[in-house]
Amino acid sequence: MSVYSLLRPLVFKLDAEKAHRATIAALKLRSGTGFTPEPDWTPTLETRVAGLRFPNPVGLAAGFDKDAEVFGPMLNLGFGFVEVGTLTPRSQAGNAKPRLFRLTEDRAVINRMGFNNEGQAAALERLKGSIGNGIVGVNIGANKDSPDRIADYAEGVRTMSSVADYLTINISSPNTPGLRQLQDEGALRGLLGAVREARRVEGPPIFLKVAPDLGEGEPDQIVRVAIENGIDAIIVANTTVSRPDLRSGHAAEQGGLSGAPLKPLALQALRNFRAASGGKIPLIGVGGIENADDAWARIRAGASLVQLYSAMVYEGPGIVRRITKGLAQRLEQEGFASIADAVGSE
Ligand SMILES: Cc1cc2nc3c(=O)[nH]c(=O)nc-3n(C[C@H](O)[C@H](O)[C@H](O)COP(=O)(O)O)c2cc1C
Repeated sequence: MSVYSLLRPLVFKLDAEKAHRATIAALKLRSGTGFTPEPDWTPTLETRVAGLRFPNPVGLAAGFDKDAEVFGPMLNLGFGFVEVGTLTPRSQAGNAKPRLFRLTEDRAVINRMGFNNEGQAAALERLKGSIGNGIVGVNIGANKDSPDRIADYAEGVRTMSSVADYLTINISSPNTPGLRQLQDEGALRGLLGAVREARRVEGPPIFLKVAPDLGEGEPDQIVRVAIENGIDAIIVANTTVSRPDLRSGHAAEQGGLSGAPLKPLALQALRNFRAASGGKIPLIGVGGIENADDAWARIRAGASLVQLYSAMVYEGPGIVRRITKGLAQRLEQEGFASIADAVGSE
């Protein structure tokens, strides 16, 4: 029995956002003098994507460490990479509370946080300590009240490039009104053109994070515009505004749904992006991943890397090492020499 399974009933007595703050505070106590990535390095799990060397393909998705406070301890838990953010140029409070809900019966979460964060300058200072110590991506967004959202992304690219192993352009949060319209072909072309101009020649690779709720033909358009503008990978996907059958009393809360009920949607979205791209641009699979089978299915469907967040709420931090161990076993059982060999093999 894991320590977390004993702690969970206590954690779940707290309001979800308070529990999250308490977790961050506890992790900060553990950060000590730095971190020691790759304590249990498994050669077959090491993988290269967009010119970066990942010790394993399992990452922490954006939104857990919004302000870059605990990326060190999270890498120490065994994540192959951590994505901090979403960070906006200026700090902002986010939406009114309550804005984060556990749907325990569904192993799901609904959030309408609305990019609450301390702003890029504060995170920049903390991230200086990450350089060269494990892979830390920086997810950037636009302020809610910004008169020019595209300018906010360009500013994020300029500000955060020096401390990011990769940057993620997040245009898929459902909690900033109108943000997802940047996924429309014309708007996306304008945005990614501005990002390309802001980007330095020697700067980090740039990923694009999309929603799972896209219409027919949209993955093809997004892939085309992304490749035209030199985007290095696409993260599929963010939370969904759809509501599959749910049992929890919080099912009707507004916001983005993540966790187990997102799994089939996110897998289908990944398959759509794989079909649209034919392997021409790396994909990162996110949404409802709870175990090694889920991670393996995403890799077989075309993901070069995976990320998770919600399952950690239900399974605790030990989930990462259970998944990496399981992936190493799958590789061996199915006769693949590396993760890269298994990508898209379904
Ligand atoms: C509380 C919460 C906050 C999130 N905040 C962000 C965010 O700021 N930026 C972002 O790109 N994704 C954010 N996400 C989405 C996750 O990164 C991920 O795409 C989504 O939750 C699906 O993965 P999961 O089912 O493993 O949680 C958030 C998710 C949750 C649950």
